[in-house]
Amino acid sequence: MGAGKSTLGSEVAERLGRPFIDLDRDLEQDLGATIPEFFEARGEADFRVQEERRAIAALRLPDPAVLALGGGAVQTESIRNELRDRAFTVLLEVDPDTAWQRSSGGGRPLARDESEFRALYERRRELYDAVAEARALDTDGIVLGAAGVEVDAGALERLASLVPGEGAVALVCDPHVGGIHGAAAQVALGSRLASVHEIPQGEAAKTVSVAERLWNELLLDRDGTLVAVGGGSTTDVVGLVAATYLRGVEWVPVPTTLVGQVDAAVGGKTAIDLPHGKNLVGAFHWPSRAVIDPATLKTLPEPELAEGMAEVVKTGLLAGEPFWELLTPELVRRCAAFKAGVCLRDPDDVGERAILNLGHTFAHALEAAAGYEGVTHGRAVALGLLAALRLSGRATDVVEDLLAPKPVRVDRERAWAALRRDKKARGGELRLVLLGEDGPLVEPRPEAEVRAALDELIAK
Ligand SMILES: NC(=O)c1ccc[n+]([C@@H]2O[C@H](COP(=O)([O-])OP(=O)(O)OC[C@H]3O[C@@H](n4cnc5c(N)ncnc54)[C@H](O)[C@@H]3O)[C@@H](O)[C@H]2O)c1
Ligand SMILES: [Zn+2]
Repeated sequence: MGAGKSTLGSEVAERLGRPFIDLDRDLEQDLGATIPEFFEARGEADFRVQEERRAIAALRLPDPAVLALGGGAVQTESIRNELRDRAFTVLLEVDPDTAWQRSSGGGRPLARDESEFRALYERRRELYDAVAEARALDTDGIVLGAAGVEVDAGALERLASLVPGEGAVALVCDPHVGGIHGAAAQVALGSRLASVHEIPQGEAAKTVSVAERLWNELLLDRDGTLVAVGGGSTTDVVGLVAATYLRGVEWVPVPTTLVGQVDAAVGGKTAIDLPHGKNLVGAFHWPSRAVIDPATLKTLPEPELAEGMAEVVKTGLLAGEPFWELLTPELVRRCAAFKAGVCLRDPDDVGERAILNLGHTFAHALEAAAGYEGVTHGRAVALGLLAALRLSGRATDVVEDLLAPKPVRVDRERAWAALRRDKKARGGELRLVLLGEDGPLVEPRPEAEVRAALDELIAK
């Protein structure tokens, strides 16, 4: 009661593109009376019967929806059972003082006497704990919970309790990250840790031979979990191995780079490279949980932070909020939540998830023209964002001030050929992610305009 279920519930529904069902409001309509009136006339027991009927019908709807349950609904056993079988349940946390402040004086039948209200809060607490699969304080927290993403400074120390299930854990990291965070991860995993595996640092980890070595080394059963501690390169290859080993085992990325925390570890895309191109072999394999500990970024060198800032700026532009102004833990949480929301709307990447490619069409073309050497992804993305903003008729100062990208020295023809190949130009037009008045959209643009925007990113 008083946690803000109705307000946040409708925001979450909007973010996830699902209908919102506010059970108390629907019940009032059914009953033709407000809840206080119904309580007055018929009593709580009768109300719980009506609530049970309504809640169970809503929980059994065939299409997914966001449902706000009345504060007392979990007292009914059949509702608890239905939640366990049919729902992902997030407990919206509120302290008793705030709850009382918000609930009292509103005519709610169970919020008239403060000491009774507090006693009820204590009595219900245990039931809430029993049904909650995640806890949240706000909309982002609910979206992250629904995506299985935990963002918390210090989460690494709680790793054993954050890896779902009870099975054995195989831990994978590169030697550099292993030297910094490996011991903490091993201690945290305690008796669940079955084996530790080392893979090369950086992009060199994303190869068939590294995947093959992991397949051969692993001794996990199907109830085991692969845990990847490291940057996007580590989580990408480990996710692919998890998707394929024994036809798929659970996995948990623990990203330790900014790129990993705001991008690579969220959304369930995994991949390795082939000699002729990046990310050409992969799978969609949503992790059973992603454990994001922003404290691990303290050891990340400046150039790696800059790589991540390019994705932070991209995310903020897409969300229409200056995420880049936030301090690290909150910056990571907001960015991860934005990506999680987009991916939950389009888990198979067949629709609006394309917006996450803002600036990336240009970035990939520049990287390909450079032969993936001498141009980092972050710098290429920063340049790509400049082009996307220019084509959208938007100011570019945010990108210029924060990322200061310098034009790259690559072959213009090669870059243009790569871009056209990537985008499969049709009818003299190319479809690009741009920023419209109300947010991102995918729009066709004449080839000549796109080529001019690309040319501006290349040093004379
Ligand atoms: N799957 C996805 O959705 C997705 C999204 C974005 C990027 N990616 C992939 O991610 C990869 C890039 O990942 P990245 O930018 O995280 O780089 P990375 O994983 O290659 O790591 C870069 C370097 O940082 C070091 N490092 C990592 N954490 C550290 C820490 N806490 N302290 C000190 N050093 C640390 C590593 O040892 C490595 O040398 C690319 O292959 C890209 O394709 C995937
Ligand atoms: Zn990127």
